[in-house]
Amino acid sequence: MSRGLTVAPADGWTDDDLSWAPVDAWSDIPVPAHWVLEGHGKPAYTNTRFPFAIDVPNPPDENPIGDYRLIFDATPELTAGAVLRFDGIESAAEVHLNGRLLGETRGSRLTHEFDVSGTLRESGNVLAVRVAQFSDASYLEDQDMWWMPGIFRDVELVATPADGIWDAFAVTDYEALDGTGTLDLFVEAGSPVQLRIPELGIDLDASDGGVIGVGEVEPWSAENPRLYEAVLVSAGETVTLRLGFRRIEVRDSVLLVNGEPIQFRGVNRHEHDPEKGRVASPERMKQDLLLMKQHNVNAVRTSHYPPHPGFLDLTDELGLYVVLECDLETHGFEEIGWKGNPSADPEWRGAYLDRMQRTVHRDKNHASVVIWSLGNEAGTGTNLEAMAAWTRGFDPSRLIHYEGDWASTYVDVYSRMYAGFEEVRRIGEEVLTPAPFDATAAQIHRRSLPFMQCEYAHAMGNGPGGLQEYQELFDTYPRLAGGFIWEWIEHGLSLPGGGYAYGGDFGEDVHDSNFVIDGLVGPNREVRPGLVALAHWYTPARITVLDDAVRIENRYAFADLSGLTFTWSASPDVSGELKVGDVAAGEVVVVPFPDDLANLDLPEIVTVTAALAADTAWAPAGHVVGRGERVWLELPDAPEETSAPSVGSFDPVSLKLLSLGSLSLEGPEVGVWRAPTDNDRYPGWDERDLPPYAERWHVAGLDRTRTRVVSSSLDEDALRVSTRTAPAGRDFSVDGEFVWRRVSDSALTVDVTLTPGGTWPVEWARLGLDFVIDAAPEGLAWLGQGPGPSYPDLAAGTFAGRHQVGADELYTPHVKPQESGARAGVREATVSTAAGALKVTVLSVDDVAVTVSPWSRQALATTGHHHELEADGRTHVSIDLFQSGVGTATCGPGVLPRYRLAAKPGRVTLLLEAV
Ligand code: GAL
Repeated sequence: MSRGLTVAPADGWTDDDLSWAPVDAWSDIPVPAHWVLEGHGKPAYTNTRFPFAIDVPNPPDENPIGDYRLIFDATPELTAGAVLRFDGIESAAEVHLNGRLLGETRGSRLTHEFDVSGTLRESGNVLAVRVAQFSDASYLEDQDMWWMPGIFRDVELVATPADGIWDAFAVTDYEALDGTGTLDLFVEAGSPVQLRIPELGIDLDASDGGVIGVGEVEPWSAENPRLYEAVLVSAGETVTLRLGFRRIEVRDSVLLVNGEPIQFRGVNRHEHDPEKGRVASPERMKQDLLLMKQHNVNAVRTSHYPPHPGFLDLTDELGLYVVLECDLETHGFEEIGWKGNPSADPEWRGAYLDRMQRTVHRDKNHASVVIWSLGNEAGTGTNLEAMAAWTRGFDPSRLIHYEGDWASTYVDVYSRMYAGFEEVRRIGEEVLTPAPFDATAAQIHRRSLPFMQCEYAHAMGNGPGGLQEYQELFDTYPRLAGGFIWEWIEHGLSLPGGGYAYGGDFGEDVHDSNFVIDGLVGPNREVRPGLVALAHWYTPARITVLDDAVRIENRYAFADLSGLTFTWSASPDVSGELKVGDVAAGEVVVVPFPDDLANLDLPEIVTVTAALAADTAWAPAGHVVGRGERVWLELPDAPEETSAPSVGSFDPVSLKLLSLGSLSLEGPEVGVWRAPTDNDRYPGWDERDLPPYAERWHVAGLDRTRTRVVSSSLDEDALRVSTRTAPAGRDFSVDGEFVWRRVSDSALTVDVTLTPGGTWPVEWARLGLDFVIDAAPEGLAWLGQGPGPSYPDLAAGTFAGRHQVGADELYTPHVKPQESGARAGVREATVSTAAGALKVTVLSVDDVAVTVSPWSRQALATTGHHHELEADGRTHVSIDLFQSGVGTATCGPGVLPRYRLAAKPGRVTLLLEAV
């Protein structure tokens, strides 16, 4: 197909002409790179919409073109026969070598190879490539990401000797019943081929391919990624393959690897670098995979295209199950009711099949690839069915995935994205009873399939909440094969002056703002709190500390627990090893407290950790993979001698505290609002008929409450203040009773009772006491959950203890500012500032959440980017009696009812000290 690509003008630049003058005036650009990140034009972000009119198959006339020219020499080995290989060009190119048109490319994230035998010479080769940002193929590449053109992956010359090996396909299998492996080999070569697998003692003529029994082998799995090196040797070429013997199959709607049920504890990964876009460096790829493994992730979906080819060498080696996705998405057609969707148009069939075939051929020899995915959000249609049929015929050893096929007629796994908890439960339960007598053949087929969420728990901004509930479902129903969080990396682009850009920052006509900032790690791989929580739910060793014993569940599919060491520690400062003995995969043990622990007199906190016993390829010995704890914190002693405070420290009108010792501050103000998180700004998928919480809070006025003093009294014992906090124009309130007592010149206690008045039309974000200290924050030390932040539905992975953070760890630097940083379960906290510290001790049975920020909530709510936030030089402290959860409403369910905060009374007694 040449339609849609501007034809190069006959101006000579493609000619075999080294002296072609104007080329000297061209500027240099690195390859691989996107030209919009190298000073030529700008990136643009859309989620589902095409950034040009839907006028199939035409690209827009405003279509940036990049002409590349390279003069190079080649070795005799290459001139004897070679292919010129491009690993990725967005979106289409016309390729000339030495004045000869080699052809065109389509498929931005697919490999293109051109035979250059006979054209390539030893010196002065002229390679001329004209790249168009948009082409007819752009209609098939509407993934939710930046539009970034250019030759963004490697370009190579690969020698193809006549007596070399042209193709090899090694299909491996593992039979768990007897522990043996087989290799089904296909080879195409220009001379006889010998196969050697030294470790297995195999050395045989493999010219005709066929099935070879290799005897007993150690199988490959994500837990133990055992690879065997195999060498294919022909007269002219040696090819090395790394074989992993494994079987992926479906039995009775359960997904099995090597005969055992498997759960994908997965993430979706786009390729992204804040400086280089989709140019993937070996360092970044390794960094991503190490971080995944270190956070107990065992699977990755290469959303939504084949990754850099080197990525799969690493997944093979480190051990991650890969759902390898084809470069295909036509989501923009949804805007017009899927009218004209190429997926259902026979004219596009060739393009679809070509994409799938190139996807499979490139990566067919990787053990880690266990599922082929046809693409993402391309509606449905016969072209997708054709892709599935070809793939199934070519490679029956792997399963086929495509989320858009809800009926699941042409896929091997039933897949959905963001299905809510109840629906996932129903899908899990569905297969536990016989099919209804009137079920159709398609329904019966679907019931035979395992279920996975190819995307769930949208990690946008502060979130995702609900990981626990999904995990409990995956752990309950054998049909549920787990899922893949959306998504791994936030696609922020570095701005010259610091900070990250998102959609709209480059003046795009249409864009989807910060919907591209939705990762478990930030653009530079900063670990977000969501990943810490995920690591807890994905742990291979679930630990529960009971009253006098420790329950440990082995959540590996294959491994026993001998690779982990278990350690108990109890505050204050005692620890020891916990011997758990042999615990096979899937088993649970209950280990009584060892004597040293059992004999302790009232430990406050008992923590048990599971850590790697030895170094692995992805983390050193001692790396913690699981943790459980139990907290028996005693109430602190209340101060005995108290009297009424000096009214001089209080504002005479508002009766708020203005100073404590030498610390100048103001508060408390009763607060029920938070700076909306991304999730607060979207209606949950379970209540799309309601406006999002951010809007409901604004309408109700949570963001603009004012406080009136209702009454006050001072006697020898205490200062008593009654207040009413309410929004303008509304008749509901929070009524406060504050009883202040003096402990010393720099210490007060306050007994607070807060009661909702009237009928609040919406749940609160929190119920808290806000103070502003008149100096910049310097850090926080506390006894409570930490060290990271936690919210009621995003608390896992934090643990009780004494923690301390500096000024820049008080908050999460979300690219788009929003509420963050609450430390929950707090019994005692010291907020340090440039002018001294405020210590808060909870004297009642409750615990509180403490949020400390250099910015007011109004500033967070109205500033577009983190780097634009201006600190006001003060410390904003909230002591919350209750907090709402965060949910995952940007895609998926909102805050679950049990984590919502309906208006309710609260009571707490605090000791406030200037220290
Ligand atoms: C899904 C889609 C992803 C991404 C996500 C929202 O529908 O497959 O590519 O757009 O929603 O961030």
